[in-house]
Amino acid sequence: MLFQKTLDNHSLKHSKTHWIIKNFNTMDLKYSLVKDIPPKKSVIYLIRKDNNLGRFAFNEAERKYITEQVKDGEKQVSVNSYNRWSYIQVIDKETDPDKQREKCRRAGSEHSVLLKKHKHSEIVLADAVEEPELILAFAEGLVLANYGFLRYFGDKAEKKHPLKNILIVSDRMDKQEITILKNLIEAVYFVRDMVNEPLSFMNAVQFSETVKQLGISSGFSVEVFNKKKIESLKMGGLLAVNRGSIDPPTFTVLEWMPDNAVNKKPLVLIGKGVVFDTGGLSLKPTLNSMDYMKCDMGGAAAVAGVLYAVAKSKIPVKVIGLLPATDNRPDGNAVAPGDVITMHNGKTVEVLNTDAEGRLILADAISYAGKYKPELIIDIATLTGSAALAIGRFGIVGMGNAKSRYMKSLIHSGDHVHERIVEFPFWEEFEKLLESNIADLKNIAERDAGAITAGKFLEQFTGYPLIHLDIAGPAFLKKANSYQGKGATAIGVRLLFDFICNFPNLFEKDR
Ligand code: BES
Ligand code: ZN
Ligand code: ZN
Repeated sequence: MLFQKTLDNHSLKHSKTHWIIKNFNTMDLKYSLVKDIPPKKSVIYLIRKDNNLGRFAFNEAERKYITEQVKDGEKQVSVNSYNRWSYIQVIDKETDPDKQREKCRRAGSEHSVLLKKHKHSEIVLADAVEEPELILAFAEGLVLANYGFLRYFGDKAEKKHPLKNILIVSDRMDKQEITILKNLIEAVYFVRDMVNEPLSFMNAVQFSETVKQLGISSGFSVEVFNKKKIESLKMGGLLAVNRGSIDPPTFTVLEWMPDNAVNKKPLVLIGKGVVFDTGGLSLKPTLNSMDYMKCDMGGAAAVAGVLYAVAKSKIPVKVIGLLPATDNRPDGNAVAPGDVITMHNGKTVEVLNTDAEGRLILADAISYAGKYKPELIIDIATLTGSAALAIGRFGIVGMGNAKSRYMKSLIHSGDHVHERIVEFPFWEEFEKLLESNIADLKNIAERDAGAITAGKFLEQFTGYPLIHLDIAGPAFLKKANSYQGKGATAIGVRLLFDFICNFPNLFEKDR
């Protein structure tokens, strides 16, 4: 089984974080697989257009009404039978299975609104399309859409989605698939809570404590390095970013090393944990650009969430998470543009813009990852406005130097879960743009290709294969989008979980 090396339960007893996690949107939602549709309960039927409704308990008038509506091209039909509601969702056949699943998630999200309106605390999902994958996707969209960050509202009880119990009726579904989905959605909820939580309750120390709690509740081990330890490890990038802050930095190491793992060499996931980004002395220049910078730890939170889902589902893959965390502020001792710092691997960096801080803390973690002799390093970060400018909130910008099958598999996972990746070029010409006049590297290049030069900067800190994922566009949404909701999306969690579940296949090809 897993080994828990460094959990320090004692110190958690009195921490504020314990309280935070208790207030988290943990899912008090139950899912069960039942054989038949229980009578008198409200049901969502997933059907194909030509499905025969004869086997369901509708009366003649209801059946006629539904059949006519569906024939007319309605995709959603609701029937109120006084003591219960029936919702019919028509699933059109799509040749692309990724599109098909995404349509189901979106349909699930639309039903989230209906269920709230009609105050259902319980719902039955009936699979008449006989594709468990689709009913799972529908359930995923439904439950992800139920999320809300309500902690600071006075009327949170009224605002909370009422659904508490989902009964799934499906002949072909494996119960374990439901459990795995539940674990994953739970992880997404946790990550959204962590990212939505303002700095006042989520500084670097509180972030690390929250990750410890996630480790305890799912089974991965957590060790938190404090400032002294970070100093002794000479993590000059993390320390430089932290210099303008009054709160100490942390570096959190997460380990999931199951005995039955298929891989000898671990997968190392690294997340940017800037709990708030003011830009530092290169203060964020444009209107409103600082408003949502509490989301700048979205990458680190996502990695913690992935480990939660992986450990809870006991996926047999060795995974390490490394989470450097600090805020980026312009206090008196802040790193100044032009300063030269020495990084964990001994390279020197001329810090020309203190707002390009993410790469400094990630570089130290990427260098530190070498101690695990990793199979692959993936970092995930809200790293550049340039990535957001390129593809907006619609996807993740990815790049790297790992063997192409890794990126292919990641892109495939992205399509599968609809956290899509666009691969950017990683040509060596970009490296030249990072040459400094006085140090080994500078931390910014020209404006053009800004997302790529950021990735290239990271590449300089490891000899191991690296994939870099920039989530600056989709990590935090100002307007709601279907089941992603508004605010934190927890993007990356479902992507990396899917990738890790497929990792055994990928790995076996190597032998
Ligand atoms: N945290 C920001 C990137 C960001 C932008 C995240 C928008 C989420 C939404 C990052 O630290 C940053 O400030 N990057 C600079 C880099 C530049 C100074 C080279 C940027 O992209 O403008
Ligand atoms: Zn910045
Ligand atoms: Zn940042």
